[in-house]
Amino acid sequence: MKLTEEQRKKMRITVDYTNMTDKYLGDKGISQKTLAAHKPLAKAAHAYVAENRGKDELFMGWTELPYNQDEIVADILATAKDIRKKFDCFVVLGIGGSALGPSMAFSALCHLHYNDLPKSKRKGPKFYVEDNVDPVRMKELLDVIDVKKTCFNVISKSGATSETMTQYLIIADLLEKAGENVKDHVVFTTDASRGNLVKISKELGGVKSFVLGDGVGGRFSELSPVGLLPAAVLGIDIKLLLKGAAYMDKLCKTPDLKKNPALLSATLQFIAMNSGKNIGVMMPYSDNLRYVSDWYAQLWAESLGKNTKLSGEPCAVGQTPVKALGVTDQHSQVQLYTEGPYDKVVTFLSVGSYKEKTPIPHGCENIPDVGFLGGHTMEELIQAENKATAYALTKAGRLNYTVTLPEINEFTLGQLLFYFELQTAYAGAMFDINTFNQPGVEAGKKATFALLGKPGYEEQRKALDGAAPDPAYIV
Ligand code: PA5
Repeated sequence: MKLTEEQRKKMRITVDYTNMTDKYLGDKGISQKTLAAHKPLAKAAHAYVAENRGKDELFMGWTELPYNQDEIVADILATAKDIRKKFDCFVVLGIGGSALGPSMAFSALCHLHYNDLPKSKRKGPKFYVEDNVDPVRMKELLDVIDVKKTCFNVISKSGATSETMTQYLIIADLLEKAGENVKDHVVFTTDASRGNLVKISKELGGVKSFVLGDGVGGRFSELSPVGLLPAAVLGIDIKLLLKGAAYMDKLCKTPDLKKNPALLSATLQFIAMNSGKNIGVMMPYSDNLRYVSDWYAQLWAESLGKNTKLSGEPCAVGQTPVKALGVTDQHSQVQLYTEGPYDKVVTFLSVGSYKEKTPIPHGCENIPDVGFLGGHTMEELIQAENKATAYALTKAGRLNYTVTLPEINEFTLGQLLFYFELQTAYAGAMFDINTFNQPGVEAGKKATFALLGKPGYEEQRKALDGAAPDPAYIV
């Protein structure tokens, strides 16, 4: 789909930071003077990202994904067509960066009850993302799919993630027992040469595989085959998704804080974090966008939660992401946001035009609490509640800003993803940390290897046994 410049502008996502400023929040807000004082740091962060973009050795290959995948996209589209023809179900086996993006795009761009729709009303097979090793979940997935009619997309950069590989072993065993050729039922998305899935592919005689480039870490991988294959299987326009990302990239070329949306929000968040705002709430006013919060939580937490600066100096930075949903959590968490500790920044995700308006019929006119609703639409109601919550927080001196998608489609979602990725890269550069590693995650993976007796982890096993719970402290 080709978009004119005018259509692009109409579909441009915007960031309204009015409610972050002292103009509305008084001494609880950020002044223009403070913002101006951060201009040199923001400019340096912008320059760092611009100079290092595309560098695999720094894990910044993700910046080029909107531009360098023509052949891959063609291959993905052909593979997706084939999968749609052959299979009733498509299951993603992956975790973390290999699962959150596919779940988010599915939820954002497909029918909210997609799997319950009849086949004729779905653009692709039934869709599942299995990102846990809860044995009940695995068993109950197997209750609703027929492995003989299912394609499994095993997504793991390393091919050494216990969760994903456990799922793979179970599925491969079931397929073999069912007399199926495993190779015909799996697609791998993995590292080009180093990952274990490369070895398994060879053993199986060459599995259809897509490459997750060296410079693309899990949480920055949604615009790579990790996210693009599942999206294409679902009939999502992946070219438009990439165009949206490229458009945001273009908007963020400028180091001018007031014109670059990702740089602006990174700077505001940086200022807020340095004044004790340790919690970042993301509150989409849209069920379609609810899993953006999950995807963002990993991106923001794993990237910024670090204890050492690039200079080697110790630090303790990061912001704890909290997921909320508008309007649902107005009746749950908003009391805390409005009157609790001043330790949060709330990011609203708003929608300019919902794909459904859903008129509210007239009725109960003699009951004022109900009668006033008739004649409005549910779209008006959700938008009013979004504005009302932002207003209430602002009145209470609470930092909040609003990212608006004119509507939810591939082009705006692509912009949103790239906006958050750039925002994260800029914020990490401001903190002078390694935004793209995750030593804390690796430590947990290694401890699991030791506990389950993987050769080479014997010393760690001893240390873990030594740290066993003390019965004296168990009540
Ligand atoms: O962001 C990350 O790098 C992690 O969340 C990984 O995606 C996750 O641990 C899965 O790793 P792998 O793709 O190697 O299976």
